[in-house]
Amino acid sequence: MGLWKRRTDRRQRVQVDLERLPRHVAIIMDGNGRWAKRRGMPRKAGHAAGAETFRTIATFAKELGLEYLTVYAFSTENWKRPEDEVRSIMGLLEKYLHEAIDRMARDRVKMAFFGDLSPLSPELLDLCRQTQEISKGYDGCQVNICLNYGGRDEIVRGVKAFARDCMAGRADPNHLTAAAFGNYLYSAGVPDPDLIIRPSGELRLSNFLLWQSAYSELYFTDVLWPDFTKEELLKALADYQHRSRRYGGV
Ligand code: IPE
Ligand code: IPE
Ligand code: MG
Repeated sequence: MGLWKRRTDRRQRVQVDLERLPRHVAIIMDGNGRWAKRRGMPRKAGHAAGAETFRTIATFAKELGLEYLTVYAFSTENWKRPEDEVRSIMGLLEKYLHEAIDRMARDRVKMAFFGDLSPLSPELLDLCRQTQEISKGYDGCQVNICLNYGGRDEIVRGVKAFARDCMAGRADPNHLTAAAFGNYLYSAGVPDPDLIIRPSGELRLSNFLLWQSAYSELYFTDVLWPDFTKEELLKALADYQHRSRRYGGV
């Protein structure tokens, strides 16, 4: 009961207990550029392939019954990339959101954005607003897209907002708790990620969910994001289910 079994080959079998899924999985969608380079293709082809993987994994997360999926799509540091690469990533996001809006009534997936959306093009900004607006009516799986997101930037913004509340007499620094500060972050109301997955072989967080990852379980794989499959997600979930989470206790 509640076991998701899939035969990958004769020797390997991934078993995930669907009754004990993490509530919140976060993914650093990395490795698109290397995937393209290995095929002698331009980096933007890697981003297009990565966008396909995102579609597949977001749908699968919903089918599995995950409550929250948060993906790192574009960091505050990714603006350093060549202009045409940034343009192609933004173009793919627009395309994705257009399609998502058409499908939302059927999928009932809730979408939210973490990040400073103000530097985005008016078209992209409008699509983000529309998806968030439509999402208000849904209560299914919530997909958070981190767009122009940086963990440090998020914390600094939170600190500024809190300071403003103090100056206006709405908050008191003597009464601030970690839980209350969490409400000043993009992730307000969303539980911390239980599991953070980073494909592509890099062993770092790259400014992702710095506050929220305090007790997240980390899972790294060499698979590049465009090659990440449902099976890879199941492997990560199975690995997570063998972890012992102690939060500093015994
Ligand atoms: C992740 O893939 C996508 C973004 C950061 C937008 P990369 O483009 O970083 O791929 P690699 O790390 O160069 O392979
Ligand atoms: C992290 O990947 C950001 C996203 C996947 C959106 P990067 O490719 O930007 O991270 P670094 O530069 O390898 O640390
Ligand atoms: Mg990268």
